[in-house]
Amino acid sequence: MIKDELLKSKAESVLKNAYCPYSKIRVAAAILTKKGNIYTGVNIENSSYGLTVCAERNAVASAITNGEKDWEKMTIVTDSDLVKSPCGSCRQVIFEFDKNLPIDFYGPNGYYEKFISSELLPEGFIL
Ligand code: THU
Repeated sequence: MIKDELLKSKAESVLKNAYCPYSKIRVAAAILTKKGNIYTGVNIENSSYGLTVCAERNAVASAITNGEKDWEKMTIVTDSDLVKSPCGSCRQVIFEFDKNLPIDFYGPNGYYEKFISSELLPEGFIL
């Protein structure tokens, strides 16, 4: 679909901005909102490793900061074949806003998987 390609290319366009001097693993995420806007994020590492924030959570922060909680899809791209799906923290953060979000995941060498947020996080925590 044209929209899927656009979302993927938006994620790819910010992949170079990942701040990843420690892992050297680049990840970028793009969220397409129901209004048709796209918000992106990249992983931002820190010399205090535990402070690293994943691309997915930075994309969520950008969408929410701009007042957009209604989403159509998230697309994630990475240059590493070590990363195959969003981490557990990101799964819970995505789940907070959308239990049924389609997520496209693209890695190197043609790796592609599609997920739904609730499938990635069965029994996700709800307060
Ligand atoms: N990373 C993400 O940005 N998203 C994920 O879903 C998994 C991991 C980042 C965090 C860190 O900068 C690097 O990838 C290696 O874990």
